[in-house]
Amino acid sequence: MMPQCIEGLDIKPKGVYVDVTFGGGGHSRAILDQLDSDGLLIAFDQDPDAKSNLPENDNFIFVDHNFQYFKNFLKFYNHEKVDGILADLGISSHQIDEGSRGFSFRHDAPLNMRMDQSSELTAYEVINTYSEEDLTRIFKTYGELRYARKFASTIGAYRLKKSIETTLELANLASEFIPLKQRSKELARLFQAIRIEVNQELEVLRRFLDQCADSLKPGGRLVVMSYHSLEDRLVKNLMTTGSVDGDTISDEFGPQQSPFKLLNRKPITPDDEELQANPRSRSAKLRIAEKR
Ligand SMILES: C[S@@+](CC[C@H](N)C(=O)[O-])C[C@H]1O[C@@H](n2cnc3c(N)ncnc32)[C@H](O)[C@@H]1O
Repeated sequence: MMPQCIEGLDIKPKGVYVDVTFGGGGHSRAILDQLDSDGLLIAFDQDPDAKSNLPENDNFIFVDHNFQYFKNFLKFYNHEKVDGILADLGISSHQIDEGSRGFSFRHDAPLNMRMDQSSELTAYEVINTYSEEDLTRIFKTYGELRYARKFASTIGAYRLKKSIETTLELANLASEFIPLKQRSKELARLFQAIRIEVNQELEVLRRFLDQCADSLKPGGRLVVMSYHSLEDRLVKNLMTTGSVDGDTISDEFGPQQSPFKLLNRKPITPDDEELQANPRSRSAKLRIAEKR
């Protein structure tokens, strides 16, 4: 949904834009194409691999940090208010396809799944040290796994004998009781759930969204593409009420209007052509709002 994202940003050639999820740089390049020499794009990615792909462009700044700190970085670069913010959440195709990162159950690799290699929590820690209750909760809430409890107890029993070291060791454990027809889907959900926990994705998204209203100029656009219903709920809440929890904000004069005007009541989803070309986009939801 790249064209819809770019259209949603309503780019002014001299504007200042932020792409908080640079990844392979596809969206960033499309934004840069629409800026003139007075425009600026500030892009973030916490994954060092993203740096192998940076455009050489005088109107481009790259920040190799977590986007939960984006407001501080905007201040540092003297652009506290910007014209548009884009977030294309989750992990990139590069991260999934790079088997050694441990994001995929189709490649054998150490249980890692960190986007930021300097952060402490790894998938190994989650799988080998979390209680069965915590694993069940994570598998249910972040992965909506049908076999959440069974899987957590299988892990609990196995690790009494030895620690679980690799992605395939983990996937093989699950495969023992998941019917073949459901296996790929369930394993994808399992790996998604662990990844969300390892990278604290929902907490980080909350912190990021909380900073957006303050960081946009009036008329500025917030464009967010999410891939999980829990993410989408936070985005929708923020855009409709101004609070990620969906609470109407009140002050001494009563309930306040949301700082955002939602530009699409229903989320935009990929069309058939995009789904065929990129099956990973099937859960994508795009929401666009304008700062009042
Ligand atoms: C779906 S990809 C973005 C793809 C990108 N729009 C493109 O055109 O190639 C998401 C990217 O965001 C990065 N990312 C995810 N969460 C992040 C965070 N909290 N802070 C910084 N980067 C993050 C990931 O490392 C990944 O490279």
